[in-house]
Order: sequence, then C-alpha cells, then structure tokens
Amino acid sequence: MADNKNKIFMGGLFAAAVILGLLAGNSGKTLAPQGGSSADAGKTEEPEQGSSETAVPEETAAAVTVAEKGTGITVTKADDWSSQFPNQYETYMLNNENSEVHEYTEEHPYIQRIYAGYGFAKSYGSARGHTYVITDLTSTGRPHKLANCFTCKTSDFTAKALNEGDSAYAEAFEDFVDQITDPFGCFHCHSNEPGKMYVTHTYLSDALGSDLTKIDAATLSCGQCHSEYYFDPATKATTFAYTSLAGMNPDDMLAYENALVDGEGNMFADWVDEENGIRKLKVQHPEFETINGEGSPHGSSSSMLKLSCADCHMGQTKADDGTTFTNHNWTSPLDNQALLDSNCSQCHKDLAAEVEKTQSEYWTRVDALAEQLKGLNDDLTAAINDGKIADDKLDEVRLTLRNAQWYWDFVFVENSNGVHNPTLTKHCLDQAEELMGQAAQLMQ
Ligand code: HEC
Ligand code: HEC
Ligand code: HEC
Ligand code: HEC
Repeated sequence: MADNKNKIFMGGLFAAAVILGLLAGNSGKTLAPQGGSSADAGKTEEPEQGSSETAVPEETAAAVTVAEKGTGITVTKADDWSSQFPNQYETYMLNNENSEVHEYTEEHPYIQRIYAGYGFAKSYGSARGHTYVITDLTSTGRPHKLANCFTCKTSDFTAKALNEGDSAYAEAFEDFVDQITDPFGCFHCHSNEPGKMYVTHTYLSDALGSDLTKIDAATLSCGQCHSEYYFDPATKATTFAYTSLAGMNPDDMLAYENALVDGEGNMFADWVDEENGIRKLKVQHPEFETINGEGSPHGSSSSMLKLSCADCHMGQTKADDGTTFTNHNWTSPLDNQALLDSNCSQCHKDLAAEVEKTQSEYWTRVDALAEQLKGLNDDLTAAINDGKIADDKLDEVRLTLRNAQWYWDFVFVENSNGVHNPTLTKHCLDQAEELMGQAAQLMQ
C-alpha cells in the first residue's frame, strides 16, 4: 500500500463530503460523517491536482429517489432505450457474455446434507449475467410457488409490486410468468429516467428508514437484490431483517429472524430439516450487508477510501467518440483492466493475487466448517433415533445448530468468497465454529 496516495485520497474524500453536503441540502448532514460518496473518490483521475470542483462531478452527487407507490406506472423496457443511450445499452447487453453456470451441489456436495429437505440441496446454479435471470429462474430444479420469486428478476414485477402493494407477492408464480416483457431492466435502478438513481424495490427503503441517504445511491441500486431477505410469513412479501443501518449485521439480523413467528406459532424457518427437526434459515447473497458491514475495507464508515458497488463492478469507459460513460456490464473488477489501471492499481500492486490469497484461505475454512456442520447434523439425527438425547437438551442443540448454520451460510452464499469484507467473514466463521463446539458439547 502506498501511504502517500492514501492520504491524498483521504483529502479528496473530505472535499467530496463537504461538497456533497452542500449539493445535497439537508441530507448532506447525514452523508458527511459517512466519508462521502465514494464514486467520486473512485472517479478522481488526478487526485494530486483535483480542485474541489473537478473532484466531484455534480451529477454523481445526485440523491436517490424512492419510487412512489400506487401510480399505475408502466415499464419502459431496456430495448426501448437502446437508441437514446447506446453506450449504456450496449454494455448492458454484454452481460450475455457472462453465461457460464456451475452447479454448487456438485462442487460442494456437503450442501446436499446441510440444505437437505430444501430446494437448494437438489439444484443450486451459480450466478451469471443479469440478462439471464428469467431463463435461470424458470429452468431451476427448485419448485416455485409464488410470484415473490420474481422480486429480483424482472422490472415487470417491480412495477406490479409498486402499483399493487404487498398482495402482488402472494400471487401464483404461474399466473405471472407470461406477463414478463423486460427480464432485467433499466427500471430497477432508474425507473423510467435512465441516469437518475431510484430505489424501486421499496422494501429496501422501508428497511433503512432515515438511514437511506447514508448509503451511496449506486450501492443502494444493487442492494435492492444483492441482499439477505425473507418472505414475510403472513403476507409473503419480500422483507429485510433490519429496520436501520445499525441493525444491518449478521448478529442482529439473526436475532431478528429468530424473533419472527410463523402462522402456526412456531419460530420462523425457511424449512425444517426432516431428519433432525432443526428449523433452518437460508441466507441469500448478502453482498449489500457485507460491503456495508463493520471492517469492510472500502465500505464501512471508517474506510479510508469508500467505493460503491458501481465503482468496483461498473467503472467508467470511454466510447469511440470520446464520451465517458458508466459501463453497464457487471463484471469482476479483475476483468476490467481499465478500472485496475486507472484506479485500483494506485494502491493495489497486484489485486488479483490479493483476491486469490483471500479466496483460497476462505475456501479452506468454509469447506472444513461445512464438513463439521454436516457431521453434527448427522450426529443429531443419530442421537434422536437412538433415543440418546433428552428432550430438554434437544431444542437447545437444534437452536445452536440453526444459528451456526446461519453464520456459515452468510459467508458461503456471499458472492465475493470473502474479499468484500475479510473481517466480517472471519467474524461469521468464528461464530459458526464456536456454536458448533457448543452443540457438540451438548450432545456428549
Ligand atoms: C433486480 C435485481 C438485481 C439488481 C438491482 C442487481 N442485481 Fe446483480 N444479479 C442479480 C441476479 C438475480 C443475478 C444472477 C443472475 C443469474 O445467474 O441468472 C445477478 C448477478 C450479478 C453478477 C454476476 C455474478 C456472477 O457470478 O457472474 C454481478 C457481478 C452483479 N450481479 C453485480 C451487480 C451490481 C454491481 C449491481 C448494482 C449496480 C447489481 N448487480 C444489481 C440481481 C440483481
Ligand atoms: C443495477 C442498476 C442499474 C441498471 C439495471 C441500469 N443502470 Fe444505468 N446506472 C447505474 C449506475 C450505478 C449508474 C452510475 C450512477 C453514478 O455513478 O452516480 C448509472 C448511470 C447511468 C446513466 C448516466 C450516464 C452514465 O453513463 O453514467 C445512464 C444514461 C444510464 N445509467 C442508463 C441506463 C440504461 C439505458 C439502462 C438499461 C439498458 C440502465 N442504465 C440500467 C445503475 C444501473
Ligand atoms: C472494493 C471493491 C468492491 C466493492 C465496493 C464491491 N465489490 Fe463485489 N467484488 C469485488 C471483488 C474483488 C470480487 C471478487 C471477484 C473475483 O473473484 O474475480 C467481487 C465479487 C462480487 C460478485 C461475484 C462476481 C463474480 O464474477 O464472481 C458479486 C455478485 C458482487 N461482487 C457484487 C457486489 C455488490 C452487489 C456490491 C455492493 C453491495 C459489491 N460487489 C461491492 C470487489 C468489490
Ligand atoms: C487509496 C488506496 C486504495 C485504492 C485506490 C483502492 N484500494 Fe482496495 N484496499 C485498500 C486498503 C488499504 C485495503 C485494506 C488492506 C488490504 O487488504 O490490502 C484494501 C482492500 C481491498 C480489498 C480486500 C482485499 C483482501 O483480499 O483482503 C479489495 C477486494 C479491494 N481493496 C478492491 C479494490 C478495488 C477493486 C479498487 C479499485 C476500484 C481498489 N480496491 C482501490 C486501498 C485502496
């Protein structure tokens, strides 16, 4: 790490925070303590000379708008913007090139036991480009029941939920599937005004309340889908397990989900393990919570350089005519040489090597803990079948293993494999290990 560069960036950030404060009016007060928007520091091409005006282009300071409900809005499809915004549209269509899927149940056979009784134990394809969402959803081997599965897949459903409210989530999957015209559209992030940042998935703004403006608009746009959610047991609506930024961490989110009760008066569960009766939770891609979590090198309030999801996964590209625009092909930063050259490499001499090291340590520990978790699930089944566990202990073991699995899963299903936030990753795996130790002790 080049220390002198770091200081320069910090200076730029301070300027960014001040200017954001001025431009954003009231919300500036809440933005400033967070270290300002990131996008700006990321885009500062010459931090050494950057005067305040050049350091923060005015348009990047624009605040996010939360879409209004009940307006009867219809979606302008991605294809319909192609001539007006050719650069964004063409790069968006490049997501089709990210077409490879691999099957997690084969790569990590332990999930066949850990998720046993749930669809993901049978079929769990890895993520690929955004433009594939509907194909992948309709072809999975998992059963679909309700339209709430479309929450993160098509703008048509986003508009429907805005217009009709929570009742949209409980409709039958099959009744909606034919209404899809815009698989993964501009609408999610821009409503019908490309370039302006919107939150159209209002469960996100509901979960953050007045903390919404503390997070960069570009990061919010991804947090609409790349986050942990559950379907409300009563309404089936997509819901987050926090009601403020302070509650957005794996410990408080677990406590929140553990306090939920389903229609039958039981502790909320995504499914029940039929062999040993553990009421299990399934975490889903918590990239948003991981990036904004404590210890995040580029995302927490104490980061020396804040970067948004878009700073690392989109970046700026120059078109043939010289215009600079935001690249809408969502890729690994390691596949974006222009981004590495213009930004990351100022501090990271070899980011690919750093990422590889973190990810290989991650897999060693994630795999080892998964084998342990699998073994403990089987031990509990055996103890129940052999009548070796007293009733008063049984519920305690089940709860301890439910919690251990939550922490392990929070890390396993996070798509960066540890690099978004090595500190939080370690915290979760430490918790999982500790809880598994307790469960083993209880079963002795
Ligand atoms: C409307 C929901 C939604 C929004 C908004 C969204 N994503 Fe995604 N994203 C998905 C889904 C679903 C997939 C997996 C697609 C598949 O495999 O069919 C995905 C896949 C990806 C991938 C490819 C993953 C891989 O393993 O190849 C990247 C990278 C990504 N998203 C980044 C982002 C970023 C950055 C943002 C914000 C600028 C964002 N996404 C916003 C739903 C969303
Ligand atoms: C997953 C969210 C997401 C989707 C979907 C999306 N955009 Fe964007 N868009 C962004 C982000 C993030 C920015 C950069 C905003 C910033 O840096 O302040 C952006 C910026 C833009 C801009 C401003 C100019 C520029 O290039 O920075 C335009 C115009 C735009 N997008 C058009 C589109 C069009 C057209 C589509 C659909 C084909 C689309 N976007 C889909 C997230 C998205
Ligand atoms: C500081 C830069 C940085 C930020 C900020 C960041 N990411 Fe990442 N992200 C990475 C790196 C590095 C990887 C690992 C890429 C690899 O393995 O090739 C990654 C991986 C991913 C992947 C898996 C992509 C793949 O190709 O396997 C997804 C999806 C993703 N990030 C989404 C997000 C979302 C959503 C946000 C914001 C909530 C975000 N990222 C913020 C750097 C970043
Ligand atoms: C101003 C210096 C600076 C810049 C510019 C910078 N980083 Fe970082 N980055 C750091 C520091 C400091 C850390 C924390 C220490 C470490 O892990 O090396 C870090 C950590 C990371 C990590 C976690 C690495 C790991 O495996 O532990 C990722 C991923 C990352 N940065 C991605 C990026 C990407 C992508 C860019 C460019 C868009 C970027 N960084 C630009 C300073 C910087």
